[in-house]
Amino acid sequence: MSQDLEKVLFTSDQIQARIDEVASQIDADYEGREILLVGVLNGAVMVMSDLQRAMRSHVEMDWMAVSSYGAGTQSSGVVRILKDLNADLEGRDVIVVEDIIDTGLTLSYLMSNLASRGPASLEIMTMFRKPDAAQMEVPVKYVGFEIPNEFVVGYGLDYAGRYRNLRDVGTLAKHVYS
Ligand code: IMP
Repeated sequence: MSQDLEKVLFTSDQIQARIDEVASQIDADYEGREILLVGVLNGAVMVMSDLQRAMRSHVEMDWMAVSSYGAGTQSSGVVRILKDLNADLEGRDVIVVEDIIDTGLTLSYLMSNLASRGPASLEIMTMFRKPDAAQMEVPVKYVGFEIPNEFVVGYGLDYAGRYRNLRDVGTLAKHVYS
C-alpha cells in the first residue's frame, strides 16, 4: 500500500506529535469542563481515537454520518444525515472532530444544524485543512496541519474507500488513478 504514495507529506510520528500538541491545547482551553467530541464518519475515526487518548480531561464521544447531495466529486453543501447523534447537545461543550476540510461546505451545513440543538459551546477541530477552507464562514479553532490543494490519503483519508489505514499521509502516485 505504501508504494502507492507518490510523496509522504506527514509521517505517523509527525501526526502523533501534532495530535499531542492540539490535545494539550484543548485540555487547557476547557479546564474543568467535560467535552463531547463529535466525529464525522468515516474519515475522523483515526483522529478521534488518537485525540481523545492524548487528552487528559474527561471526554465523551459521539458520531454522525452524513452524505452530500449532488453528483461528482464536488461537495454540494447540502447534506443528508445518515446517522444522527445519540447524545443531546443541549448545554454541552461540543467539539466537532474532522479529518480534513476542503471547501468546508459539508461542515458549514453540519455546524448550523448542530448549533440549532442548543450546545453551550460549539467548536471545530480538523487534522488537515486545505486553502479553500479559508473562505468558510465558520471559524475552525483547532487545525492539525495546513496542507496544499492536493488530494491526500492515509490516517483516515480514503481514495475509493482505500488507504484509510495508512499510518502516514501523502499524495497518491499517478499509476493508482490513471
Ligand atoms: P468539503 O465539504 O469540500 O470540505 O469536503 C470535505 C470532505 O471531502 C472530507 O471530509 C473528505 O471526506 C473529503 N476530502 C476532501 N479532500 C480530501 C483529500 O485530499 N483526500 C481524501 N478525502 C478528501
